[in-house]
Amino acid sequence: MKDQLENLASQLKTAIAAADSLAALTAFETEKMGRKSEFNALMKGLGALPADERAAMGALANTLKTEVQAAFDAKKNELDAASAGAIGETERIDVSVPGTRRDEGHLHLTSQAIMEITEIFRRVGFSRVRHPEVDWDHYAFETLNMPKEHPARDEWETFFVDAPVSETMGKMVLTPHTSSGQVREMEKGKLPIRMINIGKCYRRQIDVSHVPMFHQFEGLLIDKDVKVTHLKGVLDYFAREFFGPDRVTRLRPFHFRFTEPSFEVDISCGICGGSGKLDDGNKCRLCKEGWLELGGAGMVHPNVLKAGGIDPEENGGFAFGWGVERTMAMKSGVKLDDIRVLYKSDFRFLQQF
Ligand code: DAH
Repeated sequence: MKDQLENLASQLKTAIAAADSLAALTAFETEKMGRKSEFNALMKGLGALPADERAAMGALANTLKTEVQAAFDAKKNELDAASAGAIGETERIDVSVPGTRRDEGHLHLTSQAIMEITEIFRRVGFSRVRHPEVDWDHYAFETLNMPKEHPARDEWETFFVDAPVSETMGKMVLTPHTSSGQVREMEKGKLPIRMINIGKCYRRQIDVSHVPMFHQFEGLLIDKDVKVTHLKGVLDYFAREFFGPDRVTRLRPFHFRFTEPSFEVDISCGICGGSGKLDDGNKCRLCKEGWLELGGAGMVHPNVLKAGGIDPEENGGFAFGWGVERTMAMKSGVKLDDIRVLYKSDFRFLQQF
C-alpha cells in the first residue's frame, strides 16, 4: 500500500511537471486527481486496512496528496503567468490609434433654418411667438377678412379636423398658414406688436416644391405710422442676411384678403442663378423661370385690425408670411431641387447638413 501510494504520487508529479499547457493541466486534474481517479480509489481503500496501519497510511496519503496538490498549483501558476505574458505579446494596445467616434445626431435642416430665421428677426426687434397649429376657422380665415364661402378659401387646400363645429369659432382646421396667429397676437392686447410666428402648416398638396406638412414664418408689425417702405426695408434686410448679397428680391402687386395693398415677394433662384435654365440647357426644375415665390406680404387690412380689437385710425402695420422649406431651398449652397427629400429621413441627405 505504501509503495503503491508513493509510486502513484511520483508518477503524478512527473506528469504535472511535463504538462506544457493550461489545457493539458486541466485535463490532467480531472483524470488523475478527480473523484474517479486511481488516487481517489486508493484513498477509499484505506478504510479497509487494519486499524493500526490505517492511521499511518492515512497520514502518508495526506502528505502525498498535499505534495501533489502543491506541485499542481505551482505548475498552474507558472502556466498562467506564461499565458498572461503571451497576451502581452500578441494583444498589444496601440494607444496612438485614432478611436472610433460615436454617432452624434444634429438638428434637422428645417430646425436649423428656423433658428437662423428667428435670430435674424430678433436682431431687428421681432420676438418669436407660437400659436396653435390646430386652430379654429375663425382665426385661420374668418378674422382674416375671408368670410365663409369666399372662393379665396379654396386656394388654401385646407385639412379640416373631424371635430364638433363651434358656433362662434366655426370648424377646426390644421392651420393652412401662420397668418392665423395674427389676430391671436392682437388679442393679447399689447402694442406695438413685433412678432415672428413660426409653426407647422398643412395643405393638401405634394410635388417638388410642396409637402403636406411644412413650416411658415409670419411677421407682423403693428405700430403708429407704419408704411410700405418699412415693410420693404425689413424684407430686404432679411434677404441679405439669409440668402447673401448675390440674391435679389422683387415685390409683385398681388391680392390677399387680409392685406391692402398686397404683394408677392420673389427671390432670384439659387439653382439656376435667376436664368430659369441649367448649364446643360434644361429648364430649372425648381423655378422654371428664374424667380421663386417666397410668399405674401402687405399692409394689414383694416378689417383684420378691427377683428383683433385694434383701431385702424390709430395703428396700422404690415405682415408677411413665407414657407421655411422653400426659403431654405432657395438659399445658396443648399441646392435642393425637390423639397420632399427633406422629410424622407434619408441619412445620406440629412447628414450633409
Ligand atoms: N398666409 C399667406 C399664405 O399662406 C401668406 C401671406 C400673405 C401672409 C400676405 C401674410 C401676408 O402675412 O400679409 O399664402
